[in-house]
Amino acid sequence: MSARILDGKAVALTVTQEVAAKVASRVAGGRAPPGLAVVQVGENPASQVYVRNKRRTTEAVGMRSFAHDFPASLAEAELLATIDRLNANPDVHGILVQLPLPKHVDPQKVVERIDPAKDVDGFHPYNVGRLVLKSPTLRPCTPYGCMRLLAETGEPLAGKHAVVIGQSNIVGRPMAMELLMARCTVTICHSATRDLPGIVRQGDVVVAGVGRANFVQGDWIRDGAIVIDVGINRTDEGKLVGDVDFAAAKERASWITPVPGGVGPMTIAMLLANTLRAAELADG
Ligand code: GUN
Repeated sequence: MSARILDGKAVALTVTQEVAAKVASRVAGGRAPPGLAVVQVGENPASQVYVRNKRRTTEAVGMRSFAHDFPASLAEAELLATIDRLNANPDVHGILVQLPLPKHVDPQKVVERIDPAKDVDGFHPYNVGRLVLKSPTLRPCTPYGCMRLLAETGEPLAGKHAVVIGQSNIVGRPMAMELLMARCTVTICHSATRDLPGIVRQGDVVVAGVGRANFVQGDWIRDGAIVIDVGINRTDEGKLVGDVDFAAAKERASWITPVPGGVGPMTIAMLLANTLRAAELADG
């Protein structure tokens, strides 16, 4: 079997256009445009690219973008004070603090300072808890984007065995909760998992979020599986590749996401969807 490609770039464009249309009708109805504040601390090169894309797309859909860039030396108390001001600003509906943060800043403290109603990353314990309890409001963007891509296949998810590789707070854990909510049987694998290839071979759906180039081998993929690759890794030759050996996995999967152009663009699209949702919730 040669897999069909799940074109994240195209689906993200559709989602972004839907958001832009809703923003335009909000504004035409006399309501404020949604506002998204993206906070960056330090000069991590990958973060700078992501943040630039987030801000550019925010403006492209007619939302207000509030940029806050700080040097890596910023004191934690200063960052928390910035979040307090953004929490209190009615023009700001969504707040995102780009991770990772410098070592002297506690990311948990920062995430918990954001008003859960403005937590468009969906990382606050309140939003994580709501997702665990099957009643999500603001959902973590990357897993939410993966679910949108899975919907694109038209395949029913109920009863499928979904294998999630990676247990991070940003990807693996919320992804597992999304898949469980979609009535999959879910297995979460991590670095202490025994016989990883054997478990991945059981997956009707495989989601890889480990951050290691070409880690998942083609012969780990069951015939006809749907493969979602969350990884974005740069090889020594400077090429962007996923966590899955794409060429080999493509010969066995029924659907597969490419890297780049798969999950990556969906993350920003779902961030904008969340920001619109936060603005709607703020309307009451
Ligand atoms: N760093 C890598 N992915 C993300 C994300 O989705 N949100 C934030 N805030 N930081 C990230």
